[in-house]
Amino acid sequence: WEDQFLPTPLRLDDKIRTQKIESRLQALVLCGGVLRRVGDVFEAELERGLREQPSSLQMENTYVPELPDGTEEGVFLALDLGGTNFRVLLLELRAGQLVRQHVKQYHINNALRLGTGDELFNFLADCVQDFVHELGMEDQEFSLGFTFSFPMKQHSISSGELITWTKSFKCSGLEGVDVAALLERCLRARRLRITVRVLLNDTTGTLVAGAHIDPNVGIGVILGTGSNGCYMERASRVQHWEAAHERVQDVCVDVEWGAFGDNGCLDFFRTEFDKEVDANSLLATSFTFEKYIGGKYLGSLLSAALGALARDQLFPAEPEPDQLQTAHLSLFEEENCAGEVAQTLRVLREVCPGAALTAHDALVAQHVAHLISNRAAQLVSVCIATLLRRMRRPHVAVAVDGSVYKHHPRIAGLMDKYITLLAPDHSFSLLGAEDGSGKGSALTAAIAARIAARDAA
Ligand code: GLC
Repeated sequence: WEDQFLPTPLRLDDKIRTQKIESRLQALVLCGGVLRRVGDVFEAELERGLREQPSSLQMENTYVPELPDGTEEGVFLALDLGGTNFRVLLLELRAGQLVRQHVKQYHINNALRLGTGDELFNFLADCVQDFVHELGMEDQEFSLGFTFSFPMKQHSISSGELITWTKSFKCSGLEGVDVAALLERCLRARRLRITVRVLLNDTTGTLVAGAHIDPNVGIGVILGTGSNGCYMERASRVQHWEAAHERVQDVCVDVEWGAFGDNGCLDFFRTEFDKEVDANSLLATSFTFEKYIGGKYLGSLLSAALGALARDQLFPAEPEPDQLQTAHLSLFEEENCAGEVAQTLRVLREVCPGAALTAHDALVAQHVAHLISNRAAQLVSVCIATLLRRMRRPHVAVAVDGSVYKHHPRIAGLMDKYITLLAPDHSFSLLGAEDGSGKGSALTAAIAARIAARDAA
């Protein structure tokens, strides 16, 4: 069992160099025992989070109490803010099926990401105005689903305050502000007749969109710029409720596992490379776990580990800062699988200009990429396996979305393997669920409308 967690070893002709490299990178290799310990800590933190006791896991109630049942109807606007681009969508659902979709992407530049919250939200409202104007629908009334992929304190399915920014956003003055209400105010100021019906996280959108394809879906995961998961938890185990919930059996809980370990509970496997990536990040000392898994950070980890090898004369040069991206790590992994080095060498020559690089150096870089990918897959698998054990259903499908999941050549396969090893008695399947942030948001808005109509009757 233990051996199955080991990454593929490095094989260079030079045995001594191989040994030195392996031992320099040893901290990136997690054995089965360590992963079990991470799982135990995750479970303990999860329990404390649900009870609103101090924990690095927020376990936020999303107030989404049911999943699609195929009756979802209506025309909805959806906004997706959280990753690289801001998207505005118009979606039409008929009997649960998506029959029409318009999408427009807007670029959010650094000045907006790092400026004031008011500027950002006025920009979002401008984009919505531009979008409905282009469709000639400026005067129409709309219900809107706002996918806001940051940690929130939710008070209902349509309201929530930003707790802290993550990933590449750091706008001032928004922490503690109800982002749904602020968005609605900015829309009204533009005379748009748009009501924010649901405010949700991208994991929730992914879960809902996945459940629309496969009714066994009970977990939603994002493996993209950031990483996070949500799952259907028994309502009776959730402490934090503003509304009556006697009739609610299950509710979707947003774990916010990106922050796992922010209280130091995971320091037992933190490496010097992780510390370096954290120190150079926009939001240092927060979202510790996300920095082991998220696409925003895997390239920086690769760079940090190669830099350490270079300082020990085990690699020709330190990569230039901020040059190695997660897309490069994926490329190295792809070539590694194919037994090739040409593209890896080309990238290394770009990021280490002037260094004399050989095919062996390319193999070393591929090995580092492999160790980092393997650890990321293991850590995300620990979380999923823990949730599976907790849910105790005969079979759980896990809806997954995000750029790392979609573009990394072997992450999905590794996750499949590690979840099986960590939760051997639990049947599961991984389901790629595209565009939870768009489609999931419209479906959730329709579910909210269905519940509201039922409550009114
Ligand atoms: C960050 C956010 C979280 C989101 C995840 C994936 O971890 O805090 O809300 O789900 O990124 O986008």
